[in-house]
Amino acid sequence: MNSHPHAHSILHKVGVKGVGGMGVQFHPTLLGVNSSRAGSSGSLVGVGAGVASLEGEVGVPDCAALYPVSEALLHNLHSRYKRDQIYTYVGTALISVNPYRRLALYTPEVIEAYRSSCVFQLPPHIYAVADAAHRGVWERNTDQLVVVSGESGAGKTEAAKLVLQYVGDKSEPCPRLLQCNPVLEAFGNARTRRNDNSSRFGKYMELEFDHKGDPIGGTITHYLLERPRVTSQLQGERNYHIFYQLLAGADIQTLKSLKLQRNTENYNILQSTRLTPSDTQDDRHEFGITKRALDVLGLTWEEQLEVWKVVAAVLKLGNLTFTCVSNIDGTEGCINENAYELHEVCDLLTCEVASLSTALQTRSVEARGETVVAELSAAEATRTRDVLCRALYSRLFTWVVSRVNEAIKVKTLARRKVLGILDIFGFEIQEVNSFEQLVINFCNEKLHQVLAEVTLKLVQEDYQREGLDWSMVDVPTNTPVVDLIEQRQTGVLAVVEEVCARVGSSTEALLQQLSFSCGGHSLFDIKGGRHQHSDNNIPADAFRIRHFAGSVTYSVPGFIEKNLDTLHRDLSRCMFRCQHRIMKELFPEGNPRRTTLKRPASVATQVIISVSALTRTVRSKQAHLITCIKPNELKQPRILESALVLHQIKYHGLVEQARVRGEGWAYRATHEVFLGRYGMLSLHTWPAWRGPPLEGCALLLADLPLTPSQYTFGRTKVFIKSQRAVHELEEYRRERFEDLAILVQKIYRGWRDRQHYRALRAAQICIATCWRSWKAREEYRQLKQKKKVDWAAAVIQLSYINYQRWRYIVRVLEEMPSDSPIDPSWPPPPSSMTEVGMLLRRLHHKWRCHRYRLQFDQTARNRMREKVTASIIFKERKASYSKSVSHPFLGDYVRLRQNTQWKKLAAETNDQYVVFADIVNKITRSAGKFVPILLALSTNSLLILDQRTLQVKYRIPALEIQRISLSPFLDDIAVLHVRPPSPTTDLGASQNLNPGCLFGSDEAKRKGDLVLQTGHVIEVVTKLFLVVQNATGKPPDVNICTEFDANFGQHSVLFTFKTAGLAELVPGQIRIMRRHNRMEVVL
Ligand SMILES: Nc1ncnc2c1ncn2[C@@H]1O[C@H](COP(=O)(O)OP(=O)(O)OP(=O)(O)O)[C@@H](O)[C@H]1O
Ligand SMILES: [Mg+2]
Repeated sequence: MNSHPHAHSILHKVGVKGVGGMGVQFHPTLLGVNSSRAGSSGSLVGVGAGVASLEGEVGVPDCAALYPVSEALLHNLHSRYKRDQIYTYVGTALISVNPYRRLALYTPEVIEAYRSSCVFQLPPHIYAVADAAHRGVWERNTDQLVVVSGESGAGKTEAAKLVLQYVGDKSEPCPRLLQCNPVLEAFGNARTRRNDNSSRFGKYMELEFDHKGDPIGGTITHYLLERPRVTSQLQGERNYHIFYQLLAGADIQTLKSLKLQRNTENYNILQSTRLTPSDTQDDRHEFGITKRALDVLGLTWEEQLEVWKVVAAVLKLGNLTFTCVSNIDGTEGCINENAYELHEVCDLLTCEVASLSTALQTRSVEARGETVVAELSAAEATRTRDVLCRALYSRLFTWVVSRVNEAIKVKTLARRKVLGILDIFGFEIQEVNSFEQLVINFCNEKLHQVLAEVTLKLVQEDYQREGLDWSMVDVPTNTPVVDLIEQRQTGVLAVVEEVCARVGSSTEALLQQLSFSCGGHSLFDIKGGRHQHSDNNIPADAFRIRHFAGSVTYSVPGFIEKNLDTLHRDLSRCMFRCQHRIMKELFPEGNPRRTTLKRPASVATQVIISVSALTRTVRSKQAHLITCIKPNELKQPRILESALVLHQIKYHGLVEQARVRGEGWAYRATHEVFLGRYGMLSLHTWPAWRGPPLEGCALLLADLPLTPSQYTFGRTKVFIKSQRAVHELEEYRRERFEDLAILVQKIYRGWRDRQHYRALRAAQICIATCWRSWKAREEYRQLKQKKKVDWAAAVIQLSYINYQRWRYIVRVLEEMPSDSPIDPSWPPPPSSMTEVGMLLRRLHHKWRCHRYRLQFDQTARNRMREKVTASIIFKERKASYSKSVSHPFLGDYVRLRQNTQWKKLAAETNDQYVVFADIVNKITRSAGKFVPILLALSTNSLLILDQRTLQVKYRIPALEIQRISLSPFLDDIAVLHVRPPSPTTDLGASQNLNPGCLFGSDEAKRKGDLVLQTGHVIEVVTKLFLVVQNATGKPPDVNICTEFDANFGQHSVLFTFKTAGLAELVPGQIRIMRRHNRMEVVL
């Protein structure tokens, strides 16, 4: 194998494995392995297991190497056949030798093996051909055709069924497709001497597939059912299977309703052969299969019954016998001997007995507008009966085919590429050959011609046209025979047509004309013919044609009837009038409204039309050949008659085929097509090649791992030598295709996912936008609402507060307390106006105090001043203060001011303005005793007076009072601390300032601080405070505490106040004890 470096890189890039990597084992022949070595003994391994392999292949699986000896081919086929290896290739064509027994070659496992494996890994098989055809449709999108050729009994129909099984056994509606064959075979096949299941019609089936390669339906075209067989068969042959099947297989009720009896001997048209019990058993079994197939194809029970009725009517019509009668007018007439059969036929077809009877026994002729009815003779009536039987049956067959087509047709209108399977009736030579054999053999002749042309002639011409080095292989042509039969005017069929068209045509006239027109043809022989090698053994009423497959002597009697075989209009009309459901469809020309006088086409004309359609079909499609070989005439397995097979090898041109296939090229395609198909395998030509196609092909092939001997270039085409190389190319292409498919898939999926993502994203954005805007609107709405609510609340609150204020103010006005400063009443404010209420109250109080004060005179003002001062000094400092508040500071309790004596005395010391005078207790310093004294306080000084004389005993100027000490308790004791005199200055100064003051005396110095007890202690201390303040401009210090020092002359004493009451003390009383320099006051 070529290992072009560039090729490897490209193939690697494009994803193609090298040949070694493919793991494909190739066909021994294709690899050049010696056939004898390859073909040792042994049977097809895996046949029993149903899995095929190349191991154990016998002979040469491909005959292309065996040219030019036909005997070698024969030997090869024979040795393979002995080992049940019935299939052998000739290039791409297949030879199939009929095994006449069931082989385990067609199991589902084998089908699967051919579907999944490389064709070169497996032995030759019909499935490989089917697979190639299927791939041709599916992968190359070209119409394909599998042509099965071979003589009658060679196995064409079986082969065609196997092809259908391979391609059709995949999915619905395949069961329907596969069920077509049992139905068509039941109605269109019959036992002949050469074949127990001989196809008596040509069948062309077209299958359509979906994009996955699964069949989705198809159509069947049938050609030229052998009609004479319906009414007559050769001895030992049988009528169409369905007659026997119906009689053997239908249940008794069905038979009864069809007015049939099970015994076939009761029916004239079935009497050519005696049935064995096994035949009947087979027929019964086959009927079950046919019925099931009809069920699957969707024919209802009613429809099936209609069909059976027509079949039964044909059987019964065949029983009608006519005998001659002479009419009074001397003419010959006939009567029906089996009136009851006629009645039953009419019952089955639902037609009038008289009408059918008349149609069978008379003939109406229209002449110059008049209808003349002529009676038919017995022979004529019998012929008419037979024509009706044949027409009924052949039209029923056509109806069945169209019904089957209805069931399997493709429902869509799109035109797809198709896979055709062509299986026509095989070439046959009977003991007595008649017109139908001529038709059959002509069709085979024509098919042979077309196939030879397509597979050998055109191919070789193409090689030459393309300028390849090719020496033509002579291909025996059968064109002269074809021309002999189909030529216009002088061809056998044209002669038959011409003679039939004459009035009063006869066999003799036909013989004469044939002798005249065709007698000179080298391949035509007739008694007394002009041909120099005329065989005198030819019967006088026959002629002989040397067909490609052998000489056939045709017996001319019956030719004219069989060719015309036209149904008289009376019968058509009678049939059209039947109430039977399908009769109107079968005999549309019987419709009285259709008055066409055109003669229906004769069989010869139909043959020519059908055959040309057939050849067109073969030419228009890529043909795959299956040549069936009949190994023996005995229909026996394991017997291969060499002469018979050799004859077939020769006339099928297998040797020539082997040479053309062996020396030629397996594949050819124009440069453009080649580039189009394989361009993807090279980076030079992929994704597009814009240069000359030939150059592109050269670059492409150079990139591929093919040796130059594997391919060549023609003028317009590329030729690939071996099938193996083509297969390799296909494998590369498939792998590359997969890669490209993955790439496309990848890109598509990426695109799809992106689209999806974009759509999702857009949707998400849309949703988010909607959601956000809704949320924002909602928040805004809530805010607005809240703002409104807040505003409203604020307004309401404010209004309410204002209202409350207003109410409160109104209330305050209404419930205004008295102007008395001591009036505690005040309208309670609402909770929100506590502070306001308090402020208002304070304001009001200040205001009323102010008003109150405005009423004051000087005395009251002074008194108030004293009270205020008392409050400043004692409030919350001295327990007895609260009692003093309500007590008016009268000051002069002893009416000292009015005392004239005192007035005189006071004037001396300027103490006449007395602010306080009362009897108070002076506490002795030594024992703490209470001594009543008259205490007076003037605006200048504190005076102790004699109670009787009012003489001043002690006088302490206000200046000298330094401090006043009190306890915080309820005791009424006050200690007046007198400033200690300075030894140098005090005396003189005091004398200077207050000449009348006694305080500066020694007495005063000796005595020190003064300790008093009075109920008016608050008043005394307050007034003294004010006096000292007035006098000094500075208030004295008022010390309120439980311990303080007092100056008792030369030493100081510590006063201690205690509240812990003693037992002997009356509550409210006090006791004073002097201990050394401590003075304890206990309350
Ligand atoms: N592959 C096969 N395996 C087993 N038996 C086969 C095979 N092919 C053919 N036969 C047998 O040979 C018989 C004749 O085959 P078939 O009906 O296919 O012939 P034919 O070529 O269609 O003949 P005709 O032209 O008369 O229709 C079948 O009935 C069957 O018994
Ligand atoms: Mg057949």
